Amino acid sequence: MRLFPVFLTAAFASTGIAAAIPGHVDTSPGNKGTASLVQVRNPNFEFRHGPLALAKAYKKFGAPIPEDLRAVIARFRRTPKRDFGSVSTDPEKHDVEYLTPISIGTPPQDLIVDFDTGSSDLWVFSTEMAASDIKGQTVYDPSNSSTSQILQGSTWEITYGDGSSSSGDVYIDTVTIGNLTVPNQAVEAAKKVSSEFTEDPNNDGLLGLGFTSINTVQPTPQNTFFDNIKESLDARLFTADLKHGAPGSYNFGYIDPAAYIGNISWTPVDNSQGFWGFTSPGYAVGTGAFRNHSMTGIADTGTTLLLLPKSVVSAYYKEIQGAEYDSDQGGYVFPCSPTPPDFVFGVNNGIVTVPGDMVSYAPVDTANQNCFGGIQRDTGIGFSIFGDVALKTSFVVFDAGGLQLGWAAKNL
Ligand SMILES: *[C@@H]1O[C@H](CO)[C@@H](O)[C@H](O)[C@H]1NC(C)=O
Ligand SMILES: *[C@@H]1O[C@H](CO)[C@@H](O)[C@H](O)[C@H]1NC(C)=O
Ligand SMILES: *[C@@H]1O[C@H](CO)[C@@H](O)[C@H](O)[C@H]1NC(C)=O
Ligand SMILES: *[C@@H]1O[C@H](CO)[C@@H](O)[C@H](O)[C@H]1NC(C)=O
Repeated sequence: MRLFPVFLTAAFASTGIAAAIPGHVDTSPGNKGTASLVQVRNPNFEFRHGPLALAKAYKKFGAPIPEDLRAVIARFRRTPKRDFGSVSTDPEKHDVEYLTPISIGTPPQDLIVDFDTGSSDLWVFSTEMAASDIKGQTVYDPSNSSTSQILQGSTWEITYGDGSSSSGDVYIDTVTIGNLTVPNQAVEAAKKVSSEFTEDPNNDGLLGLGFTSINTVQPTPQNTFFDNIKESLDARLFTADLKHGAPGSYNFGYIDPAAYIGNISWTPVDNSQGFWGFTSPGYAVGTGAFRNHSMTGIADTGTTLLLLPKSVVSAYYKEIQGAEYDSDQGGYVFPCSPTPPDFVFGVNNGIVTVPGDMVSYAPVDTANQNCFGGIQRDTGIGFSIFGDVALKTSFVVFDAGGLQLGWAAKNL
């Protein structure tokens, strides 16, 4: 039994929310539902590790992990306990910093999962796994849920760039997040999980918020939780308000006008690859001029860093004295002080500013002299990834009704 401070709130909007929004948000008929839920900090998370975060992104999108980065990770893993500053730690404890509670089954089984807009499976640790692969996670026990039903003949498998995979079978059961309940949700019960998941005792699975087209259930892909609930929401959207060094929140079905400042910049979404894809028109470094440079990428809450085209990344680091691509770290590194310039990217006619202090992802040495950059190359992925480093700066609307993304500034 784990004890987490779990704060769930929900608001049932009455009228007019959509009408108040510039940017044509498509509402469902009637006023049905909304929910708001706050993340919890993963108590197992100890410190940030830049190269691991970068390697995880390459793995997720099937890109080859560059040799130098592979070497950094191997060195790190060979040192099962090492001193990093004042903490002595296991190598795997730096993966997912914030998680979100959900419940499955009847009576409800409470699990804590990673909300991931860059994938579309809801999969969880389960009683079908070998006991030796369960290291403290809470597991879904379908046999202890009176509403669970096996989805006969269905299986799922997610493979990663390094050949590892998670896989299992599928149940239909009741799933509740916040105040929203889907009675017939496909819950993918793991039989096998890849090692990076096994090692984190607090992360019980993933809840994909990408598009159903990339759900991996065979022979018939299953709807995501959001696809199942969206018609019951006031508006067919959810918002991510991720925070720097604090739990963020996800809201479903409404846009909270108090959560952002200024206007929302809307940009069309290309979901042809199952992702929340969009094209940014360009970027600026610090107070420099805006440079037109089309960058096609996805908004991905399940990736930590901001991964951009090589030319953009080198243009940014060129403006920082002492910044260099460091093969010993497998990425760009720069002096932690002074604070690097802001990075600005365009969203339609608007701009999003990533403050320089958020570009300093994590120190690479115990003296905190050099920092691993939160902006790195998207090499081999085929598109850019607007991960948490970008998302945390903004209030971001994932609007499935209007097939658009909205980015707005907020108080940081
Ligand atoms: C769920 O929604 C109801 C309104 O139907 C509201 O009264 C209640 O407070 C909400 N529950 C939570 C946990 O937010
Ligand atoms: C099944 O659920 C009940 C009620 O929540 C709980 O008391 C019991 O421990 C569960 N059994 C198992 C094997 O998890
Ligand atoms: C927001 O949009 C309105 C209408 O397009 C415009 O008049 C206003 O200046 C904008 N505000 C900001 C802060 O950009
Ligand atoms: C950049 O793009 C904008 C909008 O398309 C255009 O008005 C502007 O002239 C371009 N700037 C340059 C330097 O090409």
